[in-house]
Amino acid sequence: MSNIISDKAVLVTCGLPYANGKAHVGHLRTYIPADIYVRSLKKNLQEVIFVCGSDTHGTPIVVNAEKLGIAPKELVQKYHVHFDELFKKMDIRFDAFGTTDDATNHKRTLDIVDRLIEKGYVYPKIIEIAYCPQCTRFLPDRYVAGTCPHCGEKARGDECDQGCGKHLEPGELKEPLCTICRGPAEYKEQEHFFFRLSDFADFLVKHLENLGGTLNARNYALGWVKQELSDWCITRNLEWGVKFPGHDDLVVYVWVDAPIGYIAFTEQWAKANGGDWEKFWKGDCPIVHFIGGDIIYHHCIFWPAMLKGAEYSQPSAVVASGMLKIEDKTFSKSRGYVVWVEEDYLDQGFHPDLLRYYLASYTSHTKEVNFSWNIFQDKINTELVGVMGNFLYRNLLFAYKNFGAVPEGEIDPQVMEKIDLTIDEVKRANGEYEFKKAADTAMSLASYGNSYFQSNEPWKLIKENRDACGRVIKNCMQIAKALVLLFEPITPASMEAAWKQIGMDSDVHTAVYDEANVHVVSGTELIKPEILFTKIDDEKIAEMETISSKRVKAAMAKEAGIKEVEIMEYKEEIEYDDFAKLDIRVGKIITAEKIRKSKKLLRLEVDIGDDEPRQVVAGLAENYEPKEMLGKTVNIIVNLKPVKLCGVESQGMLLAADSGDNVSLLTTDKEMEPGSSIR
Ligand code: MF3
Ligand code: ZN
Repeated sequence: MSNIISDKAVLVTCGLPYANGKAHVGHLRTYIPADIYVRSLKKNLQEVIFVCGSDTHGTPIVVNAEKLGIAPKELVQKYHVHFDELFKKMDIRFDAFGTTDDATNHKRTLDIVDRLIEKGYVYPKIIEIAYCPQCTRFLPDRYVAGTCPHCGEKARGDECDQGCGKHLEPGELKEPLCTICRGPAEYKEQEHFFFRLSDFADFLVKHLENLGGTLNARNYALGWVKQELSDWCITRNLEWGVKFPGHDDLVVYVWVDAPIGYIAFTEQWAKANGGDWEKFWKGDCPIVHFIGGDIIYHHCIFWPAMLKGAEYSQPSAVVASGMLKIEDKTFSKSRGYVVWVEEDYLDQGFHPDLLRYYLASYTSHTKEVNFSWNIFQDKINTELVGVMGNFLYRNLLFAYKNFGAVPEGEIDPQVMEKIDLTIDEVKRANGEYEFKKAADTAMSLASYGNSYFQSNEPWKLIKENRDACGRVIKNCMQIAKALVLLFEPITPASMEAAWKQIGMDSDVHTAVYDEANVHVVSGTELIKPEILFTKIDDEKIAEMETISSKRVKAAMAKEAGIKEVEIMEYKEEIEYDDFAKLDIRVGKIITAEKIRKSKKLLRLEVDIGDDEPRQVVAGLAENYEPKEMLGKTVNIIVNLKPVKLCGVESQGMLLAADSGDNVSLLTTDKEMEPGSSIR
């Protein structure tokens, strides 16, 4: 894992969130460590620019907008604002947060695509595209579902999201199904444009071998490059997106214009701040991409090849985070295993710093993080409150009460050495994207502080030897100062308060690690300290667990309903004559009552235009109140052999639609005479 720290400015980016849904903890799994990384680089005197923005194109957006019956533009505007605000609330501070639909990105994308065309890296080809005959439209990407040709798992049109994770080209998916009408899709010929990815195989092997960042990214991509590289279809049949030059019915594939957003946002930052974007994208200032582990392929294969082809600089490092589990279950919005940042966390009164600490310190960056309310409570209470908060508060309170200012005294060389070692170790760990190690190491200085305080017994010394006591406290203040600097990247808001409490009046966010070597100044006045981190109580966690389990149950019920409809097998084919044997008539319900001994059955009398009404026993008591059935027009089979149910003879059967969790009686579209036949 190469360490990027350089004498040049570094550009750090975060994978762009699709602006089509709310932020969840899974998003933060990438953004928080990236923000910690950026803050720690700054503390290490490294110039850093940090950019991100909303991914506004592609089928995830169009499909969602279509479902909601709104224009894609409206959808992305709403969620762009949501993400922008949420990141700020979580203290994730980008230097620019743009959108891929703004003019800068359209322009930059066209520039790159034109250049690729000019250099002969793009060619047209007639291919088979999934097409839905019912909806009479082509089905790009998420408009089609089916089976992955590589691993056999269920997959989306452009991505095997449940199985091997591979990018899929149009036409590759087996057993294609239209995701709008759920009907079978067919493949139909159409002209599309391809990028000669296969020309870049040698380049990519070399690029990947030198790529910094985490090994999971590099190795995963190397595996694919060494196997096969087919050319990449870069156009889609959509209205929404960046138009492919010269073809108004085509837009570029979202994975072309989305990463180009990284460049566009750098341009926007440069424009707003008088900076230079070309030193990154045309020069040799390092570029570090933080991404989720599910989009390695795009960032390590398509993206560098595209940049190389268009003669732009390529990334120096790709840092890929492990995935997120919720209460030990695979993250899944549809199954209810999700924690929404706004409603489940911030609106519940939890401080952003707690989640930042949890995500950074749970496990190493490339491993899976499990978000569990119980573990969250435990980690916060024992580590952040019990060790870090405890040290700061007991020391500051003691100093404030007994001295009112930073006392006189020498700094113990052993203390200084411990501080130096800790800072070096934290710098190294952050540089190697080992954020857990950095957090644990910083925390170990708080433990050291606690034992230093404890073993020197200042509460005894204050009575016996005030000077000696002052010396101990001054050393504790020095430890506290280092701790605040070390924790600022992880828990920035709390450390802002702590910095004031130790008597510093500078800005802790721009203060650097080296300041930990500057001795605290005796005589600096101290304010009354406040508790920085408070324990999370059991009731709150129980409340959160109830919210989670309710959500999972609701999702299960919903899913069960959908599944029943989905997997129901079709019955065998019949002749018209088979159907014609059924005598179905229009009827009107004139009597309805519960059958005493049964929960499900109702006794009905149905007027079918005959002298005598038909008596029918129907299993509808769980779906209909007898009262509401009176007067309803229904469809009734009148030639079924009578049967006895709960001792009552049933002389017919009502037709009803059944989705598994919902039942609805069939009726007629217009008022019809009882007895009319149904054919
Ligand atoms: N929106 C994509 C996702 O959530 C990520 C885009 S990252 C970029 O999977 F590189 F394309 F910008
Ligand atoms: Zn369809």
